[in-house]
Amino acid sequence: MKHFINPSDVKNVQELVKAGLAQKANPLSHQHLGKNKTLGLLFFNSSLRTRLSTQKAAINLGMNVMVMNVGSDGWQLEFDENVIMNGNKAEHIKEAAPVIAQYCDIIGVRSFPSLTDKKADYEEQVLESFRKYAGVPIVNLESATRHPCQSLADLITIAELKKTARPKVVLTWAPHIRALPQAVGNSFAEWLNLTDYEFVIANPEGYDLAPEYAGKAKITHNQAEAFAGADFIYAKNWSSYKHYGQILPGNEDWIVSAEKMKLTNQAKFMHCLPVRRGLIVEDAVIDSADSVVIQQAGNRVWSVQAVLKEILEGM
Ligand code: CP
Repeated sequence: MKHFINPSDVKNVQELVKAGLAQKANPLSHQHLGKNKTLGLLFFNSSLRTRLSTQKAAINLGMNVMVMNVGSDGWQLEFDENVIMNGNKAEHIKEAAPVIAQYCDIIGVRSFPSLTDKKADYEEQVLESFRKYAGVPIVNLESATRHPCQSLADLITIAELKKTARPKVVLTWAPHIRALPQAVGNSFAEWLNLTDYEFVIANPEGYDLAPEYAGKAKITHNQAEAFAGADFIYAKNWSSYKHYGQILPGNEDWIVSAEKMKLTNQAKFMHCLPVRRGLIVEDAVIDSADSVVIQQAGNRVWSVQAVLKEILEGM
């Protein structure tokens, strides 16, 4: 694996899930791989899980880690070509990326979308500019449209917990007070579509994900219908793709409630975290024995460790 930006960078997703489980069983088995190698983590946006789990994974692999909040501590970066830089952006990615690459063997980048410019967001200008100009492997720590480290951890979690070969997995939209990216929903759909699981996406009218991400999933606007017989309920909010970046009125009743969970096949409750209790999910659900959100967050270490291991093996 050269980069880890989207699933097309992965040779075999099922093998990567197995590699994550193997790293979990034996976390220090490949400590030699990262010796004298440096991982740089660049955050344009906030993070708890991604920041700490990626550092932990790198330490397990024997790497050195440098972390920078580029969004608040760095020079503001220009990504457009052929511009006169007479505004507030002090450095161009054409210099910044190759400079960072002289200090780091692998670079992880987190950069959220604007939610105002659909074209620019979906072209992944920030991640693709790092890929283009850094010349070292790039790991996507959540970009404008995708969160592959999260999705791989989600597949690892489902693989650990599924009771049937082909579980019914439901991605359900849930309410939020802020306009959030589509990245987690997009990515979860994209990765689920690479399995043979039964996969349903439930969301209110106006919140359909981009078709290239929803793929072969069954899409319904009826949440109760989706929940019927489900083995996994994955809750997430996202702002509208069609009415780009907007929160549409209504839909507060899409909260994941204990009453709705009764429709399922005693489904496991999943969410990538952070989660707003009382908006996305009732306390009775997230505090129940069927909530696996902590295990899911723990698996973020093994997901990114499997990715870094494979990149290091190819260097
Ligand atoms: N799920 C996730 O990516 O969490 P953080 O935003 O805290 O990194």
